Amino acid sequence: MPGLTIGDTIPNLDVETTHGRFRIHDYINGGWAIIFSHPGDFTPVCTTELGKMAEYAEEFNKRGVKLLGLSCDDLQSHHDWIKDIEAFTPGCKVGYPIIADPTRELLKELNMVDPEEKDSSGAHLPSRALHIVSPDKKVKLSFLYPATTGRNMDEVLRVLESLQKSAARPVATPVNWKPGEPVVISPSVSDDDAHKLFPQGYQTADLPSKKGYLRFTNV
Ligand code: BEZ
Repeated sequence: MPGLTIGDTIPNLDVETTHGRFRIHDYINGGWAIIFSHPGDFTPVCTTELGKMAEYAEEFNKRGVKLLGLSCDDLQSHHDWIKDIEAFTPGCKVGYPIIADPTRELLKELNMVDPEEKDSSGAHLPSRALHIVSPDKKVKLSFLYPATTGRNMDEVLRVLESLQKSAARPVATPVNWKPGEPVVISPSVSDDDAHKLFPQGYQTADLPSKKGYLRFTNV
């Protein structure tokens, strides 16, 4: 069976976390969520990532997004590790729950297994996977990074803003787009409808084909 991917409903797993036991759908509770995994507690890159995620938590919160981490060690280890995370990124508070998955069952369900990283017992470790889940509980975007490459939280915030813009209107974000820059109007929108939907107007790129499909607007 192929693993969890874009368009799939995030499984409603019963998870044990640093904030108690709950079902993932109850936690998401009709909002956006970012679920992200880490190869292991007390590992260098992960320690930097979780601190940075905590530092950005307010930005995610402002955009109606709940955070949920996962690392395969047990709860006691997570609680001990949080002290290191907060010490390394001064001022940050790990206010989001972290799932414990010592049996590695949740990892598989969430398609977060790194086939190339194993612990000393030969058990698979999580990759640096990250799913952005929309209010309808569907996976809208997934990152899959190896253990050796830390993620960029500015990029996580950027893609979240892109997803939220596309969820609100028929627009998409072009190459290297940053929040505040023009977006493009979806090709499924006719010019007539574009005038109605975007009364602020739009600019069409003059291309050799004259097909008029590259239309920029500000929203
Ligand atoms: C890290 O978090 O630093 C890490 C974890 C597993 C393998 C390599 C790096």
